[in-house]
Amino acid sequence: MTLPRGRPAKRLDRNVTQDDRQARAPYAEALQRNADEGWVRLGVPGHQDQPKHHPALAGLAGPELLAVDIPMFTEGVDLPAPGETSSPLLEALELAAEAWGARRTWFLTDGASQGNHVTCLALRSLSPHAVVQRSVHTSVIDGAILAGLRLEFVQPSVDSVLGIAHGVTAAAVDEQLTAHPGAAAAYIVTPSYFGACADIDAIVEVAHRHGVPLVVDEAWGSHFGFHPELPKSALQSGADLVISSTHKLGGSLTQSAMLHLGEGPFADQLEPLIVRAMTTFGTTSPSGILYASLDLARRDLYLNGIPGIGASIADVEHLREVLNAKGRYADPDPSIHAAPDVIALDPLRFVVDTRSGGVPGYVARRLLEERNRIHVEMATGTCIVGLVGAGSRLDVDYVAAALHDLPEQDLGAHPPIHLPANAPRQMDLRDAYLSPTEIVPAAQAVGRTSADSLAAYPPGVANVLPGELITQEILDFLQDTARSPYGWVRGSVDPAVERLRVIA
Ligand SMILES: Cc1ncc(COP(=O)(O)O)c(C=O)c1O
Repeated sequence: MTLPRGRPAKRLDRNVTQDDRQARAPYAEALQRNADEGWVRLGVPGHQDQPKHHPALAGLAGPELLAVDIPMFTEGVDLPAPGETSSPLLEALELAAEAWGARRTWFLTDGASQGNHVTCLALRSLSPHAVVQRSVHTSVIDGAILAGLRLEFVQPSVDSVLGIAHGVTAAAVDEQLTAHPGAAAAYIVTPSYFGACADIDAIVEVAHRHGVPLVVDEAWGSHFGFHPELPKSALQSGADLVISSTHKLGGSLTQSAMLHLGEGPFADQLEPLIVRAMTTFGTTSPSGILYASLDLARRDLYLNGIPGIGASIADVEHLREVLNAKGRYADPDPSIHAAPDVIALDPLRFVVDTRSGGVPGYVARRLLEERNRIHVEMATGTCIVGLVGAGSRLDVDYVAAALHDLPEQDLGAHPPIHLPANAPRQMDLRDAYLSPTEIVPAAQAVGRTSADSLAAYPPGVANVLPGELITQEILDFLQDTARSPYGWVRGSVDPAVERLRVIA
């Protein structure tokens, strides 16, 4: 059975002039030019491009690394050169905005996490509360704590067998926006960690009908929209604010990311709030190396999008065909597509239902590392998830053979996951985080108010947040997951969840 993976994206209009513009990488070029000029540096960073006197650092990635690690706000790179009005940094930001179809783009040097912190702080100026997907990344919860933003939750769908948390439907967002009028925004995550995409077009329509902007954490979809077989990007669907972890599949260096402001009805209102929040959360020493990597990733995605990403997609598709033809592992795509919120899958991801082939996912992951030096993105009790970055290639024969050589073992029962019900909120999120706390044995934590955010993986949906009641059902779920050979609990005081932090 062949299921649609991406869906045709509306390509940005390309004409010669625009392609010429996008063929430039003004920031990366200016950084290199500055390095080639050979300055006598008497400021920060303290290595001052002296590889001879900092041999260990120079040995890490070659002496060139020090030359491009320039002081912040260098004229002719970050700031306009004397007599100029624009700078390579401003030009690089404009090109990024143009490539993604944004009104304005900001480069981030603290990952998409920074984008979520900035967004939460900006949203708090619009309203005290926002409607948020319960399975948002921890940086959204942290951003809400920092900003004092109250969160009203929309539950994602969960594949209880594969242990996968998906996204939300437009109807679920509609319901919560109706129940909590006057929200600052609707805030969703798509694609999921498994590459499943929610119907952003429909959710934009719902959010705008309620008079609120739609924020999309598109951390895992920075490459979307750059190839006709990839899903549409959130900006192409009309999202108002998009957080993008360019370093994940988009090809820039780890920690570099972008925040995009869409051209929607809320742009005028949001823009000054984002500018201010960027100052609050941004470092005063952004790394030119990270900025340059964003500039180069944008150019590669735009110019090499079709041939480069096409080859990556073809590799993943080929792997899927080989695995399906051999028939040992069941194809999980139909089950993922059956989720009510999923309208497309990222074709650069592959989920292998290893358990159907006699290997638990976490065992498959360990054996692939030990026997084949293959590192996959993640594993649950039932499956592994791999990905191929935009423009990267996959050695299909090697990976398929390694998967097929995995030894079968006796599998115990693997009961489906039943998420415990979220418990009532006892205190405001931020108040709970800032209150005096104590750490108590688990049994004594039942009936108390949590000071921590705890999420059992899989599936990674927060089971309890600061200010929420800890119930026996939640504690049992957390401990059962922590005791399983594949699960873990994010945010726990100890790995076995034998003690919990509660409000004193
Ligand atoms: C949905 C989502 N948003 C945000 C982030 C944070 O991204 P970064 O690691 O770039 O800060 C992640 C990280 O995995 C994520 O999965």
